[in-house]
This record gives sequence, structure tokens and C-alpha cells, in this order.
Amino acid sequence: MEGRRTERFICTLNTISTISSAVHMACSSLNTDILLHLAVEILTEALGSKDVFCAVYLYEDQRFNLKFYKAPFEVPAVAPKELLKFLRHRTVAVVEEIPEFAKEHCQEGMLLIVPLSLKDRIIGFVPICTKEKIYIDNLQEEILSTLGVIFAMGIELIRLHSETNRRLEEIRAMQARLIENERIVTIQRLPAGIAHEIKNPLAAAYGIAQMFKPGEPVEPDLLNRLLKTLYRTKEQVFELLKHSKPTLQKLETVRLSKLLEETISLLTYELRKKSVEVIREFDERVAAYVDSSQMGQVFLNLIMNAIDAVKENGRIRIRVKNGYDGSAQVIIADDGAGIPEENLKRLFVPFFTTKEGGSGLGLSICLQIIKNHNGRIAVKSKPGKGTVFSILLPSA
Ligand SMILES: Nc1ncnc2c1ncn2[C@@H]1O[C@H](COP(=O)(O)OP(=O)(O)OP(=O)(O)O)[C@@H](O)[C@H]1O
Ligand SMILES: [Mg+2]
Repeated sequence: MEGRRTERFICTLNTISTISSAVHMACSSLNTDILLHLAVEILTEALGSKDVFCAVYLYEDQRFNLKFYKAPFEVPAVAPKELLKFLRHRTVAVVEEIPEFAKEHCQEGMLLIVPLSLKDRIIGFVPICTKEKIYIDNLQEEILSTLGVIFAMGIELIRLHSETNRRLEEIRAMQARLIENERIVTIQRLPAGIAHEIKNPLAAAYGIAQMFKPGEPVEPDLLNRLLKTLYRTKEQVFELLKHSKPTLQKLETVRLSKLLEETISLLTYELRKKSVEVIREFDERVAAYVDSSQMGQVFLNLIMNAIDAVKENGRIRIRVKNGYDGSAQVIIADDGAGIPEENLKRLFVPFFTTKEGGSGLGLSICLQIIKNHNGRIAVKSKPGKGTVFSILLPSA
């Protein structure tokens, strides 16, 4: 009695040791060949007979391909069809009939099939041929089946690991390509970007200069505006040359009504020329945390677009208010030509323009500056009725 209990105890210990070394191997080996080699060793050991021949087939490209074998005879490279029917039950199968290729060496023996199965599928199997018939008890069957699951998980782990590495490599290569492309595009667009940034403030300066009357004393207010516009132009050019795209520089609390008022005054000439009325609905308290020079550029681009869009005696309504989500909001609406539906989605794409002599960079630069401020810009338009641009900025 005592002897049987000791025997059972030793058997349990052996089982635990076999399974734990299988788990250890499955989790630590990152090489399929090594894992398969060890798997075969452990499986044959669990069978309690050294006199066996093994092979490992793994499922790839819709068939089971031979990956490893330990036998003195040639094992088929693709699993023979007659073996596959034993995988149906996903448990260890004992096959009395020895397959043709092993018959010579295992005439008196039998064939065991250990499936390598995961929860949802079989990823392979291990046929084991014995030289003689052996008796397999339930516990051994259970152990072989558990080992099959453990090795299947190990193989899957290695596959997932190399797949993840491959994907990471792809992402890294893609990132490098994107950065390179962006660099090329930025370099290609730099001259046009600089030209655009100078063009709009220069056009405003030209408009102011038109108001100087020859022979009459220079009005200090006009001179002041002219100087301010030229100063802004110089700032923009400096910034573009430094960074090739607008970056945040001097973030400060800016009262939006004041900044808009300054921008409108730079456009006095254009507004007068077309008799455009600017209707202001300014909440004087609303301030945003922005770079005033860059945001001034945004407003200048948008108001110039609005002036271009309206007819003689047109109207531009500019509102400053608190946005719905606590941000500061500026709305610039005109009653001009409006934008056809098909152009709406291309509006912010660099170089999209419908104007003769337009660069199509105004709105793309606006979008870039607003994004750099963590703000948002949206547009709504009805052809023939007008266009509304809404900008949300971080409030101060
Ligand atoms: N308020 C608006 N009303 C109608 N169309 C507009 C308005 N604002 C922009 N657009 C359309 O969007 C296009 C792109 O504007 P964007 O400011 O980017 O370039 P542009 O004005 O054409 O050129 P640039 O800014 O160099 O003068 C314009 O050509 C015009 O078709
Ligand atoms: Mg424009």
C-alpha cells in the first residue's frame, strides 16, 4: 500500500516537472526550431519509451508542412491525408495502422497523433511512431494532450513576437518615409509660403500708402499703420526663414477685439475701394492665449478672402464671443459668392485657389497656425449667400 502511494507520488512529481519544463521552454524560447526540437524530446520522454520516431507538422499555406523530424526513414514533406482525419477530435489519437512511410521500421508498433491545438484552431500535430505496441493510460494521454497545447502556445508566441517585430519595422520605415516626404514638401513649398506671407501684408501696406495725398502733410495715424504693416511683414519673413513653417513663439494674452480692430484698420483701403461694410459684434472681454503676430496674419488672410468674395457694398460681419466649450471664438461671415460644395473639402489644401493670381496658400497657412495654437477652424458656406468661418482658440 505504502509502496503504491510512493509510486503515485513520484509519478505526480514527474508529471509536474515535465509540464513545468514544457511551459518554461514554450515561454522562453524565441526560436521555433529549438522549441520543436525540445518539444519532441519532452513528448517522447512523457511517453516513457525512447524507441519512438517523431515528426512535427505545422499548418501554413492551407496545408500541414513538415518542420522537424527524428526518424531513420524519409518523412513526407506534407502531411499525408490519411493522418488528418485523426485531428478532428483535437485529442490524442491512437492509430493502429502504421502509415506506409514508417511501416518498415514500426511493423509491430503503433502511431500516436498529438495535436498542437490552441483554443480556436489546430496549428499543427506531432505523429509519433513506436517500434512496438505500448499501453497508454489515461493520465499519459492527458499529459501528452496538455503538452500539445503548451507547445502550440509556445509556437504561437514566437509567431506573434516575430509578427510584432516585423510590423514595428514597417511602422518605423513608414515613419522615416513620412518625415522625409514632409521635409521635401516643406522645402518645395517654402518659397511660395514666404511669397504668400509677404503678399498679403504688402497689399495692405500698398493700400495704406495709396491714402497719402501728394503735397499734403503726412497723417500720423496713416504713417503709424503703414509702419505697423511693414513691421508685421518683416516679422513674418523672419519667422518663415527661421522655421520653414509657422511655429509658436510669443504666446501672450491677446484681446481679440483689439487684434481684429488693428487688422481691419490695415485693410481700410481695400474696404473703402469696394465700399464694404464691416459689422463688429465684439465682446471686449474675450481674450485668447495666442501669438498676436501669427493670429493677426490669420485674421488678415480671412478678411482679405471675405473682401475678395463680396460684391461692391458687400458686408462682412465679425463676431468675438466666448465659445461653447470655454474657448474664445471669432466668426468671420460674409455675404459674398459662397463656396460650391465640391470646393469645400479642398479649401485648406495648399495651392487650392479659384482666383487669378491667387496662391491658394492663405487658408492652409491659417489652418497650420490655428492647429499650432491647439485651436480649430470650421467653415460653412452657401453658394450665392455667403460664407462663415469660425475659429476656436484657447481662451486666456
Ligand atoms: N470667404 C470666402 N468666400 C468664398 N470663397 C472663399 C472664401 N475664402 C476662401 N475661399 C475660396 O478658397 C480658396 C482658397 O483660399 P486661400 O486663401 O487659401 O487662397 P487664395 O485666396 O485663393 O489665394 P491667396 O490667399 O494667395 O490670395 C479661394 O481661392 C476661394 O475659392
Ligand atoms: Mg486668400
